[in-house]
Amino acid sequence: MSLSPARSAAFQVLLRVDHDQAFAPELLHSERYAKLSPQDHGLLTELVMGVLRWRSLLDNWLSDYSKRPITSLDAEVQSALRMGVYQLRFLDRIPARAAINESVELVKRARKTSAAAFVNAVLRKIDADPSERNYWEAIEKAGTVSELAGAGSHPEWLVERWVKSFGLQDAKRICAYDQHRPGVAVRLPDVSTENELRECEVELAPGLLLSSARRVISGDVTRAQPFLNGQVAIEDEGSQLVGLLVGFGKRILDCCAAPGGKTRILAQRNPQAEVVAVELHPHRAELLRRLVKEQHVQVIAGDVRALSETAFDRILVDAPCSGTGTLARNPEIKWRLRPSDVQDLQQRQLSILQSALAKLEHGGRLVYATCSLEPEENEEVIARALAQNSFRVVDVLPELDWLRSRGEITWAEPASLVRGPYLRTLPGLHPCDGFFAAILEHSTVNR
Ligand SMILES: C[S@@+](CC[C@H](N)C(=O)[O-])C[C@H]1O[C@@H](n2cnc3c(N)ncnc32)[C@H](O)[C@@H]1O
Repeated sequence: MSLSPARSAAFQVLLRVDHDQAFAPELLHSERYAKLSPQDHGLLTELVMGVLRWRSLLDNWLSDYSKRPITSLDAEVQSALRMGVYQLRFLDRIPARAAINESVELVKRARKTSAAAFVNAVLRKIDADPSERNYWEAIEKAGTVSELAGAGSHPEWLVERWVKSFGLQDAKRICAYDQHRPGVAVRLPDVSTENELRECEVELAPGLLLSSARRVISGDVTRAQPFLNGQVAIEDEGSQLVGLLVGFGKRILDCCAAPGGKTRILAQRNPQAEVVAVELHPHRAELLRRLVKEQHVQVIAGDVRALSETAFDRILVDAPCSGTGTLARNPEIKWRLRPSDVQDLQQRQLSILQSALAKLEHGGRLVYATCSLEPEENEEVIARALAQNSFRVVDVLPELDWLRSRGEITWAEPASLVRGPYLRTLPGLHPCDGFFAAILEHSTVNR
């Protein structure tokens, strides 16, 4: 029996995500799958991201119907079963026969022939059961942490934290957002690029937060020339907003820079400035060099804590973080992350922030940002840094109002984007990923 290229590729990607701790979006955009037809690539992406987004719900069904815990099975059998049940329950246009037969074929080709009959029987049983399929309503109706974690397919410990931080209603909206395919936003350097994208059959709509952003309504921006030659970058509107908060300076340090979305914003808004972009991992620094073409950006591969240069008047610390504000894009993170990781990350974040504060010129400004929803990585990092340094937090709302008065922010209610003195966007409540940002200045600066 032949196997469809999309299912075969999805099976490989899911196994690599499991075995090698690889990131699904990176694999999906790798050379290896670039030659698939747009239709096959679409199905590959749907299968991989769908299985990762709904993994615990799929596993619960599989365990119920097979009467054994799915996690006790070989990884290849787990992945084939998850792909099968995802197609049966979530993808209306796939014939059940194709979903079941190809899952069976996948386990055979993975030399797990003894599991083929089992996979066939479990998937047929699930297909024969016309159970309730309103997954969104189940999230909406959830009354407890455990119901929400189950219906929304998130680890319970993570949902518990969000309910504590944001309340049950907002936690439901976050979970529901994470289960959808997120929108694609781009940052436009100028109007002519917008026209070029349209000529490549990419349909755009205005950004919801920012005037420089556009939402991709249809078409594949990654195959359009302005994207391929680096004129236009895919970048979530929340991420773009963090770049705007850094403002204008003469010597700008981007501490944790790759892949360089925000470096480019800093460079384009500050064409006269000297911009230093530091990235720890050499392969990511190389990527940064390729993507950031502005001549006034110096890319340095290394640990920013070892950088001897000081006296920067603008610094961005876009810290390595758990990424819990980006789970719709990176669903594998929720199954990998452990509660103890959040504390470990805090130590790294604090150490990078403290070294960056020492490089800030008197009168300068530092923006600390993450795409995490966890207070340990955000407010607590700031509180701990302030306890040991003479810096103060600058209220972010007047900065947002100022950006709105300049026409850069188009969102009507900047006040809804803040929590205390900080920027706090939440997926499902704002039209972007979950970003946190704090603005810090020396406490002795007069304003
Ligand atoms: C959140 S990502 C940055 C995203 C980037 N600012 C952008 O907008 O495209 C964090 C980056 O920091 C890098 N990093 C982690 N620790 C670092 C360190 N000590 N010095 C420099 N870079 C570091 C990571 O390798 C990762 O590429």
